[in-house]
Amino acid sequence: MSEDREPTGKEDTSTPTLSAKGASISKTVQTHLIFPEHANALGKAFGGQVMAWIDLAGGICAMRHTAGLAVTASVDDLQFEHSLAIGDVAVVEARVNAAFRTSLEVEVNVWGESLQTRTRWLCVNARMTFVAIDEQAKPRSVPPLVPESDEDVARMKAAQERRNERLARRKR
Ligand SMILES: CC(C)(COP(=O)(O)OP(=O)(O)OC[C@H]1O[C@@H](n2cnc3c(N)ncnc32)[C@H](O)[C@@H]1OP(=O)(O)O)[C@@H](O)C(=O)NCCC(=O)NCCS
Repeated sequence: MSEDREPTGKEDTSTPTLSAKGASISKTVQTHLIFPEHANALGKAFGGQVMAWIDLAGGICAMRHTAGLAVTASVDDLQFEHSLAIGDVAVVEARVNAAFRTSLEVEVNVWGESLQTRTRWLCVNARMTFVAIDEQAKPRSVPPLVPESDEDVARMKAAQERRNERLARRKR
């Protein structure tokens, strides 16, 4: 596994726990080469392995944003669009869509990449909720997310709507 992200120099280290920050600060990218040990009987990447990578990249992204521990609370939407074969590269990209009170929505995309042609295809799209926790494993406040583009604003709005639906479902 490798880590593609380099520090940008834009990190705010003054008050690390609650300073508002943009999604670029916590964006997380991991690359993996698909070996036989990652594959199922069809020679394709095993879904459980891909989900573990998604959870790991999403968790690191959430913990970068919150500057501390965070746990996976739920996975809303996880679609396997296309598969990965042995010898393909998996690129796992996680970014914060929205930060709420103690939770945040993180979107993770997994791209397949051919080493021969360098073409990429979308394999998985997933949205997850992480909750920041303190030393007693109690939820703690998360830093606000600052939109850095119009696309970020649209992502935050859509994430807020999904959160409303999520909360309504939990009340039922
Ligand atoms: C997630 C967890 C910390 C929430 O604790 P809790 O005492 O129920 O917290 P609250 O009810 O006060 O909710 C805290 C936040 O979590 C969110 N939340 C709780 N359960 C959730 C769920 N199933 N889906 C989405 N969000 C959830 C709430 O909406 C709230 O968000 P907000 O503060 O932004 O409004 C707790 O349920 C837990 O520890 N679960 C196990 C996590 C785990 O083991 N994950 C796998 C390994 S990392």
